[in-house]
Amino acid sequence: MKEAGSREELATPSLGYAVPPEPPGHRPFSDVISDHGLTAALDAACGVVVRELGLRLAWIALPEPGLERVIPLACSEPGARYLVPEMAAEGLGPSRAYHLRCGHLTELPGVKALGAFPARAGPKTLGLLGVGAEGPDVLAARRDILEAVAQQVAVILERRLRGREAGDAFLCVIEGLARAAEANEEDAARHIVRVGEYAAELARALNLPNREVQTIRLAARVHDVGKLHVPREILLKPGPLSEAERIEMQRHTLYGARILAGAPGLAVARQTALFHHECWDGSGYPYGLQGEKIPLPARIVRLADVYDALRSSRVYKPPLDHATAYRIILEGDERTRPTQFDPRVLKAFRQVAGRLAEIFESGWPWHGEEP
Ligand SMILES: [Fe+2]
Ligand SMILES: [Fe+2]
Repeated sequence: MKEAGSREELATPSLGYAVPPEPPGHRPFSDVISDHGLTAALDAACGVVVRELGLRLAWIALPEPGLERVIPLACSEPGARYLVPEMAAEGLGPSRAYHLRCGHLTELPGVKALGAFPARAGPKTLGLLGVGAEGPDVLAARRDILEAVAQQVAVILERRLRGREAGDAFLCVIEGLARAAEANEEDAARHIVRVGEYAAELARALNLPNREVQTIRLAARVHDVGKLHVPREILLKPGPLSEAERIEMQRHTLYGARILAGAPGLAVARQTALFHHECWDGSGYPYGLQGEKIPLPARIVRLADVYDALRSSRVYKPPLDHATAYRIILEGDERTRPTQFDPRVLKAFRQVAGRLAEIFESGWPWHGEEP
């Protein structure tokens, strides 16, 4: 008599479906579903991607080696996760965006086009960001942004494979949006990482506990994510902005707060996006808050952001050397006044300015390296 549940019995076709043999190097499904926290964070991040990019569905999946299937890891509609199904094996090939054979997905209301963006680390495809939209034009218009998000998904999956802590997976995905939002594309990823590192240096110099330093560091990396909704003509305009354009530009603080709203544990990131253009002397926006009414992380990111903007080339200005940037922050020029900064943060800046210069001048992170 055969033992119930034996291998032989499981392999017997039932319900018209034969369980395929396990390919070599197969990772058990339990391995995939064990990281609940990660999945929940990624579900939420997929939800933001869908909402902010006007999509219908987004999911993150892992390729199952040797099978024409992917394993769903997260989905903007967690209830629909089971719908993320088979895909053509060539889907993991080198093409930039391609279609999936996912019959049931196109049956979802409003899904007329599907796209998939490989999450790559070097030559390896670690996973996939899949999206469903109302039409191919929606996907085409969002392609660059989705590629940046897929790159961040790769960062998370690589950390996960190495058994390293996933960090804040939600913010890591949002960082993809933030990177795509930067007008200065070539330097976008570096600008974001650098501002995070400067903010961490300043926070350390202010003797904040390490946990807070790390929170500020991550929050700083998404401070400008709201630029995603500012038209590129405005972001890239070399000349002075009209009144209407200036208002639209300043709204990036509000858009950013909206993108980061509602996500659990992200109060600091949301506040930083909202208040990083407020000035100590009340001359900032969007509310003209003064002094300690502005949350400390936002006061820190304010200075970090100004330092990086001074050092970088912008459509309207050439890059400045460290000594000039240092002098402008401490003594002011026609655009910047020292009264705009929290005096404590200014004092911290004096202490660690050399470190900030080193971070800028090291050129880190180098291209293709995980920040
Ligand atoms: Fe900003
Ligand atoms: Fe910025």
